[in-house]
Amino acid sequence: MDVFDKAFGWRDLKIAQATGFYPYFKAISDSDATEVTIEGRRVLMVGSNNYLGLTRHPKVIAAAHQAIDKYGTSCSGSRLLNGTLELHQELERRFARFLKKDAALCVTTGFTTNLAVLSGLLGRGDVVFTDRQNHASLVDGVRLSYAEEKRFRHNDMAQLEKLLRETSDRNGKLIVTDGVFSMEGDLADMKEITRLAKQYNARVAVDDAHGLGVLGAHGRGTAEHFDVEDGVDLVLGTFSKSFASLGGVCAGPQEVIDWIRHKSRPFIFQAAMTPSAAAACIAALEVIEEEPERRARLWEITEKMQRGFKSMGFDTGVSVTPVVPLVIGEQWRAWKFWRALFDAGVYCNPVIPPAVPANQCLMRTSYMATHTDAQLDRVLDIVEQTGKKLEVIPQIRPHTTVTVKVASPGQNQFLASAVRAEETPKSLWSNGNVRDERPLHKRLSDVVERVTWQAINTDPDELAKVAALPGKLWRQRGQLPSLLMEKGVGLVMRQHAEPAEPEDRA
Ligand SMILES: Cc1ncc(COP(=O)(O)O)c(C=O)c1O
Repeated sequence: MDVFDKAFGWRDLKIAQATGFYPYFKAISDSDATEVTIEGRRVLMVGSNNYLGLTRHPKVIAAAHQAIDKYGTSCSGSRLLNGTLELHQELERRFARFLKKDAALCVTTGFTTNLAVLSGLLGRGDVVFTDRQNHASLVDGVRLSYAEEKRFRHNDMAQLEKLLRETSDRNGKLIVTDGVFSMEGDLADMKEITRLAKQYNARVAVDDAHGLGVLGAHGRGTAEHFDVEDGVDLVLGTFSKSFASLGGVCAGPQEVIDWIRHKSRPFIFQAAMTPSAAAACIAALEVIEEEPERRARLWEITEKMQRGFKSMGFDTGVSVTPVVPLVIGEQWRAWKFWRALFDAGVYCNPVIPPAVPANQCLMRTSYMATHTDAQLDRVLDIVEQTGKKLEVIPQIRPHTTVTVKVASPGQNQFLASAVRAEETPKSLWSNGNVRDERPLHKRLSDVVERVTWQAINTDPDELAKVAALPGKLWRQRGQLPSLLMEKGVGLVMRQHAEPAEPEDRA
């Protein structure tokens, strides 16, 4: 047995690349944030977390340049030892003030902030209550700790309450949730979470990676949006989204921050944020405080895009934020849709299992305050044409009026359940109940593609067993897909022969 066997035997990647669907690791050769160049082609970027568009702000760029001139390119060590700059301390003071907490700690990335805080704070005897859709960094942070984990269904407050009730007060209790859920763009029910925490003597930590700078009248995030800032004990965040930099922050009581600063291995044994990253972040925070109109524009754009997509017949799920997903359906459909959008000049992010359920794959689109209306109209136009061409949406617009719910300041009711409860439009494939009225040859062609996809994702050993039993298979019609597999792969590859050789297209 060789530890490399799994890698040498992994064929999914090669097949996906050969079909031309493979959407990941597309290298950007040039960027002005809202438009980027990929494979020699200019595309509209609606897949970034640069929500306020600050990566190109002159003040942010100048601050990064100055920090490099003054300190060089790296801190060359851990914060604990030689790696702390006055810039880091300034950044921490500013974030503590911004988030209205005693103190703040800045860590080298958002991901390691969560590892540092959870593994540093939680120990044996503690119980941590986590939403099942929490970000991977929170999941891994809990794994690194020795705490017992109790997971509740996404935003299921009744289940959270049951778990809290069952847990003894002798245990330390921490509820950990994303503020904005990063793929679907919905919010944690912070009002109820903070109420339950008070009732059951638990602490609350919110990872507001996608909320800081975006939600709340002052951009202080999900807790400000719901007016429950006092009920949130620890605010966690990242600088790689609205703050146009790289790094992360944890803000909370002074003693807790001091504890993490001295006890947490991911923090202590990691080199400090680079000078330019710290300086860019300070400048971005200043712009966020000085230019609230950016946030207002972002919400205007969010409403425009949600309204636009919904009126075309797209299912935008439970989103109430600038993360606006288009629910497409199965993985092969999502990849195909992604490829068609990319070819037409729009870049967004395809999201597949395990990030979402298998039949709920989606295009995650997200917006910047600096997108122009002309760019957004072009995105809407391309998405609509593509949606029609691939029959993800109907040929004729089904909705003349749609209800749009966004979590802009002042809308602080729990919007996710409101969206779920109402009659949201469903795109043709995100809802298995939609009757497929298309001609037989089109439906058959879909079957072949679906089957092919299943075949690509099937374990070769399992397939070998199936191939040895063709007679039995034929009797069991349900397994027809396996018989179609071979022809299907050929067909899909032929259909997509052109995109299969990206180097020729550059
Ligand atoms: C909710 C959430 N938490 C943490 C992180 C990690 O932040 P970073 O990528 O800046 O390290 C992300 C990034 O995708 C995120 O979406």
